[in-house]
Amino acid sequence: MTDDVHAIAGRAMDEVAAAGDLAELEGLRQRYLGRRDGTLSTLRRGIGSIGDVEARRQLGQTINELVTRVSEAIDGRRAQLETAGEDHDEPLDLTRPAPPLRRGRLNPVTIAAGEMRRIFAQLGYTVVGGPEVEYDRYNFTLVNQPPGHPARDSHDTFYIDDSRLLRTHTSPVQIRSMLQHGAPQRVIVPGKSFRRDYDASHLPMFHQVEGLCIDEGIAISDLKGTLEYFAHSFFGRDARVRWRPHHFPFTEPSLEMELSCVVCGGTGCSLCGHTGWLELLGSGLVHPAVLRNGGIDPDRYSGFAFGMGIERAAMLAYGVQDIRLLYENDVRFLQPVSAGA
Ligand code: PHE
Repeated sequence: MTDDVHAIAGRAMDEVAAAGDLAELEGLRQRYLGRRDGTLSTLRRGIGSIGDVEARRQLGQTINELVTRVSEAIDGRRAQLETAGEDHDEPLDLTRPAPPLRRGRLNPVTIAAGEMRRIFAQLGYTVVGGPEVEYDRYNFTLVNQPPGHPARDSHDTFYIDDSRLLRTHTSPVQIRSMLQHGAPQRVIVPGKSFRRDYDASHLPMFHQVEGLCIDEGIAISDLKGTLEYFAHSFFGRDARVRWRPHHFPFTEPSLEMELSCVVCGGTGCSLCGHTGWLELLGSGLVHPAVLRNGGIDPDRYSGFAFGMGIERAAMLAYGVQDIRLLYENDVRFLQPVSAGA
């Protein structure tokens, strides 16, 4: 009987060593060690019928040792098979080129926003924020667009309920910042805005940077000097700007700043509609009623404000034709754009 057990275990060891894959190995484990009808398990159950106590003890011990050895051999062969895919025999070739590194890129919108912060920080502006889910009051009423005001219609608004909405611009933060910081102050507000819009130059979510400068004696010349400095820093020394009258309910007077076309330089092309100019931002002197809504005395202080689309500025600076490309996260697009930025 003892000889039989050794013979069976020996065969098991040979078969394990020759097993060609993990499935075959698992089959062997079942065949020899399987709890219910594995060969060694069955033999172990059979020793109960041996009358001689000492012989029974001996055989039991032998079977236990063999079970352990077969089980270890199976584990060892399993480890071999699992690493078989890695070719250990091939010599290490230190001259082989490394696999190319795939580096992530910043989104152009992130790059442009960072550049704007840097430029305005040089002029003494600090960054403030406000909620994206905003009260109708702050988004419209307190910036001079009471209920029923026709200018409300020009913003296709996502309403949440009667009093709350997704802010359609960053201008409500003008009011929040005035109430919080008083006068004088110089702040910019880079942040998300939302409008029900979707085409090659509009997205339902986009970014604006709002600017607000309040002090005694602030005049149009301060506004123009600041924004012309910005345009040259952001778009380069060759960029030219021009000013056109406009209307916003929260500024008076209101001005739009246009940039000489980034493609044709002003001679006229399809991007600028053959005018040579591109709209860049809205601005103006803060309306006295808005100052008052922000708790600031318009007889003592005046200020200017501006609002600019960050995607739009990034598209003009990096020559991107379709705003949707900015959000598709295709590295083939992001790579050259952010490398040139
Ligand atoms: N809030 C305006 C817009 O979204 C931009 C703007 C801001 C204009 C501040 C003037 C002053 O179009």
